[in-house]
Formats: sequence, C-alpha cells, structure tokens
Amino acid sequence: MESVAPRRAFGLNIRIDAYDAEAATAQSEIVHSVYAAQYQPGPDFAEWRDGVWRRHRARGGFDLLIARDGGEVAGVAWGYVGGRGQYWTDRAAAALPAGVGEAWLGGHFEVVELIVVPACRRRGVAGALLRALLARTASSRALLSVDDTNTAARSLYRSMGWELLGSYGSAMSIMGIDLRRATGQAGSSR
Ligand SMILES: CC(C)(COP(=O)(O)OP(=O)(O)OC[C@H]1O[C@@H](n2cnc3c(N)ncnc32)[C@H](O)[C@@H]1OP(=O)(O)O)[C@@H](O)C(=O)NCCC(=O)NCCS
Repeated sequence: MESVAPRRAFGLNIRIDAYDAEAATAQSEIVHSVYAAQYQPGPDFAEWRDGVWRRHRARGGFDLLIARDGGEVAGVAWGYVGGRGQYWTDRAAAALPAGVGEAWLGGHFEVVELIVVPACRRRGVAGALLRALLARTASSRALLSVDDTNTAARSLYRSMGWELLGSYGSAMSIMGIDLRRATGQAGSSR
C-alpha cells in the first residue's frame, strides 16, 4: 500500500491510498460496502469476493485506490490492463468500428469502477481518484463504459478530456482518453 497525494478536494481532508492485487485483498469488505451501497441491493459479499473481485485482481496492472476523509471512506476506484479474451474488451471490440477498436483496445487501462460516497460528492474526490489512477498506469490509453443517463459521470469524464468512442447495448457509451496526449496537454493539472 502506498499513499498518493490528491490534487484537491474541497472541504475534505482527503488521503488516497493505492493497493496492488495482493494488498487489495485486505480491503475487500470496504470496497464491497461502497459498491453494494451504490448498486443496491448489490451482490452478496462472498459471491462478489469469489467472483468478479477475484477475477479483476488477477488481471495485469490491477490497481485499487481508496480515498479517505479522516478515517471514513470517501470513494474507491479500480482498474486493470485490458486485453482480448476478456468480457468487456471483447464486447467493446464487437461494438466499436474496426479501426477504432484496433487503435484503442488491448493493453489499455480499463477503469472498472469509480464511486464516491454520497456525502463526499461534488468536492473533487472523483477527479482526484481518476487523475491518480491514470497517472499510475503504464498504459498509453484508458477506456471505460458509462451509462448514457449518468450525467454526473459523463460530465466528469468530459471535463477531464475523455472522448466518446462508441456505444453498446441500448444506452452504454464507450469512452477513452489518450494518456500521452492528455499528459502533454494537461501537465499542470494532472
Ligand atoms: C460520478 C461520481 C463518481 C462523481 O464523483 P464526485 O466526487 O462527485 O465528482 P467530482 O466532485 O470530482 O466532480 C468533478 C466534475 O464532474 C462533474 N460532475 C460531478 N458530479 C456532477 C453532477 N452531479 N452533475 C453534473 N456534473 C457533475 C462536474 O464537471 C464536476 O466539476 P465541478 O464540481 O467543478 O462542476 C459520483 O457522482 C458517483 O460516485 N456516482 C455513482 C457511481 C457512478 O456513477 N460512477 C461512475 C460509473 S461510470
């Protein structure tokens, strides 16, 4: 576990800690509680821990960040390096125009979850978590999917330079950011 300095978080005393796959094991209950509170009723803990959480932690480049305000969890974010043969990458590959998929998918950093607890929202915590996550990856591109109705998340990603690459299902957008370009452009704000 290591500490990552947050850029800003208005009115909060935020500390961000980073966990690799092994260290993240001890944080499982905390992460699940934030996840299950957001996506109620949410999955049962054991089912989640032994299923999706185990699968994600096994992937290369797995990185978990937890933001805390004093001792209280303010938000969580995690991702890993995505590749063909994984559910989300294959789904995105089928949905994106061929040239776009080839240019963006495979070796990209996949932002899997970004959740800020309701009491800490709109104070820069998500921005701080996402900037820290992207600054830590060796990948040159990052991708994620976001529901078209999720105005808060879409505004956040847009404000940070993410671009719309395509969509799948009835209402899911695939967004990406070229981190080499973003680092060059936004040097002082990252
Ligand atoms: C989306 C989410 C992570 C944003 O967290 P946050 O800590 O409130 O976001 P920040 O304070 O860092 O906001 C940064 C920018 O994002 C945009 N934004 C955030 N919340 C917004 C909202 N409710 N409406 C419009 N824009 C919003 C704004 O541009 C904001 O900058 P500003 O406050 O200077 O205007 C949070 O609302 C959340 O956890 N939602 C539920 C889980 C979720 O949907 N995660 C994303 C899945 S893809």
